[in-house]
Amino acid sequence: MLEVSQVTRRFGTNVAVDNVTIGIPEGQMVGVIGASGAGKSTLLRMINRLIDTTEGKIVFSGTNVSALRGQKLRNWQRDCAMIFQQFNLVPRLDVLTNVMLGRLNHRSSVASLLNIFSDQERAMAIAALERLGIERAAMQRAGTLSGGQQQRVAIARALMQQPKVILADEPIASLDPRNAQIVMQSLRDINRNDGITVVTNLHTLDTARTFCERIIGMQAGKVVFDGGPDDLTEAAARSIYGADGLEDAFSEAVTSTSLAPARPARAKETKEPALVGA
Ligand SMILES: Nc1ncnc2c1ncn2[C@@H]1O[C@H](COP(=O)(O)OP(=O)(O)OP(=O)(O)O)[C@@H](O)[C@H]1O
Ligand SMILES: [Mg+2]
Repeated sequence: MLEVSQVTRRFGTNVAVDNVTIGIPEGQMVGVIGASGAGKSTLLRMINRLIDTTEGKIVFSGTNVSALRGQKLRNWQRDCAMIFQQFNLVPRLDVLTNVMLGRLNHRSSVASLLNIFSDQERAMAIAALERLGIERAAMQRAGTLSGGQQQRVAIARALMQQPKVILADEPIASLDPRNAQIVMQSLRDINRNDGITVVTNLHTLDTARTFCERIIGMQAGKVVFDGGPDDLTEAAARSIYGADGLEDAFSEAVTSTSLAPARPARAKETKEPALVGA
């Protein structure tokens, strides 16, 4: 269980995350949606401890994550892998090495320093690349790959951490629809097969509905919606995006991440057909 309790983050006088309380059971796939500036990235970054909370605490399986220091903090950051919109690979290193870098927090500092990887780690990295369907790019420089391929490398690197939680901050925002779908399907597959909790910020509402079992809607730092895909009615969407932002949130046909063909994956068709493709 990942418990975010009364967490607030301020930047000066600006309240980025405002008294947020959410409990995420192990193995859940959660989408966090909201307009730009709603606090989605800040929330994920606090969970991973890239930034600290101003108030409140974050607890994972009984451990107060907010208070960790030193090696224990690094262990948490290993257990809680992060995936970014811009992939964050080392462009001049080959793909295999990039993936093996996911092991850094598992190894002694001397081995890390010398960049020596064992045969076992190599095999593990290749298996991760195979799982993401990009093993043929193993020896290629990461910077020469397409965005979709790079994001799959980043997911393979995250898997190398053997994480308990994967946090993804708009993982498909820079991808074309096909690659966006592959990346979301990969995350869902990892969630379902490995039981890894996935919390992902998503720009588009429809992607969250298609791939996530639970959706958290943020507005001005607060959680204003928390429910399943079918609970996300037009009224709920309005509370998340505001009346002005609603059209953007639904007009997925014009965004790069429109995932309309993936819709059969949803368990139940929406009760609100008026919303679809509105
Ligand atoms: N390092 C920072 N310094 C100052 N203000 C910040 C910082 N990071 C975030 N903020 C502010 O906090 C608020 C929430 O930002 P955040 O990046 O979490 O939003 P978001 O929901 O991820 O938006 P987007 O959809 O654009 O990524 C914004 O007002 C933002 O300007
Ligand atoms: Mg963000």
